[in-house]
Amino acid sequence: MSPILQDEVQEILDKFDIPNDKLLEMSRRIQKEMEDGLAKQNGGSVAMLPSFVPALPDGTEVGQYVAIDLSGKNLRIMLLTLRGKGQEPSAVNNNYIVPNHVMKGTGDQVRFFKAEYICLDIEQPKLFTFIVNRLQQFLQEFGLVEANLPIGFVFSYPCELLSIRSARLLWWTKGFDIKDCLQKDVVQLLEEALEMNMSTKAQIKAVMNDTVGQLAAAAYKYGPGCTIGVVIGYGCNSSYLEKTANIKKFDAASRNYKHEHMVVVTEWEEFGSKGELDHLLTDFDRAIDSQSVHKGKQIIDKLTGALYLGELVRLVLSQLILDRLLFEGQPCEKLDEPDTFPTKFISEILAEEEDSYKVCRRICDELEVPMHGSTDYHIIRQVCHAVSCRSASIVAAAISGLLQHLDTSSVKIGVGGALIQFHPTFHDLLEQKLKELAPKDITWSLVPADEGSARGAALIAAVAEKMHL
Ligand code: GLC
Repeated sequence: MSPILQDEVQEILDKFDIPNDKLLEMSRRIQKEMEDGLAKQNGGSVAMLPSFVPALPDGTEVGQYVAIDLSGKNLRIMLLTLRGKGQEPSAVNNNYIVPNHVMKGTGDQVRFFKAEYICLDIEQPKLFTFIVNRLQQFLQEFGLVEANLPIGFVFSYPCELLSIRSARLLWWTKGFDIKDCLQKDVVQLLEEALEMNMSTKAQIKAVMNDTVGQLAAAAYKYGPGCTIGVVIGYGCNSSYLEKTANIKKFDAASRNYKHEHMVVVTEWEEFGSKGELDHLLTDFDRAIDSQSVHKGKQIIDKLTGALYLGELVRLVLSQLILDRLLFEGQPCEKLDEPDTFPTKFISEILAEEEDSYKVCRRICDELEVPMHGSTDYHIIRQVCHAVSCRSASIVAAAISGLLQHLDTSSVKIGVGGALIQFHPTFHDLLEQKLKELAPKDITWSLVPADEGSARGAALIAAVAEKMHL
């Protein structure tokens, strides 16, 4: 039987428990921000960005497509082969870790000659040279360097999209900080890097947020009833298929956009930047926010995303040690250092059976905790659970806001990202909470699509080609 938690520990954990009436209020406010975001530029704290993607894949796509997925520290390159209706597609992919000096690097002075033999001195951010070199390596493996394959490019940082092939970077998140990319068109930067690398040929067909890829991958797998995509990865965001006429701020005629629908990226991670969530924040959240590069921004990411959950647990554990409620108050130096409790620890701990604490013991050993026992393990597990539960509740509230916004009676919600793929209880926690919060007149289901963003990016490249975009 699990040990009973002391009242003082329970009191701290209770701070992570958000009652349903507050979550429902949050849903309503998010929905209102969505309406404002669609109505005017800079309307609400939820940006509702046009993606210029007019349709989702329907299974008829054929051919070979490449995805470049930069959704965090991990660069994924995928080759997707589509064989048309009823035929299983096949995918191969490689992951590359973006080195720290590239994530924070500045421009490289590079000399190259354009076809017309003009010598140009170009400041090329190392990041794009890095991406193209990995792409070349990848294509070489499959003998496709010269194939000129269409590419879907996932770039999950706040961007203003000017067309399906043009995205201006507004600011960096997720640990990146490359000043000479700001306000630039990342597709152009990638194309310049491709041009400089004389051997690799490829054409960028579409640039998108990872949630658009997630949505496309889920729609391909689960059919046309799937019109919402949600990523709960390093951060948390969503996209959905909207009627173009409802995107009031978007002047379709002047943009020569003739399609009835368009995928909209909600960017709901920004909800809270006007203080809407301040009443729910704990001291631990405030500490995370004040240490972050963008204080006051991306609050939903900070409450729900895999980039932050481990750090939240670490801060709670450190407080419990100070209060002499954990490890008999014996200090643990490692836990005093930021980022020593990665989110994967949460997944590992919660994957263990109720009465087994092998993983907890191993992690305590790794953290060099001087003395630990089953009461400590139980507390650690409860902290991991409380932080995960709150994350799932907030995501459920945001989804419920989107469901209220949609004019539909039934919908499939394509979910993906690290917390869906690797956290053992997250999907169930999310589903349970959504049952409590979602509007009762809508039938919905959560449908997972692993590796969704990369797969979906290749699929969107196929759609773009099919529709001659
Ligand atoms: C962050 C990014 C957003 C992305 C999400 C999921 O919230 O700002 O663009 O979609 O993480 O990766």
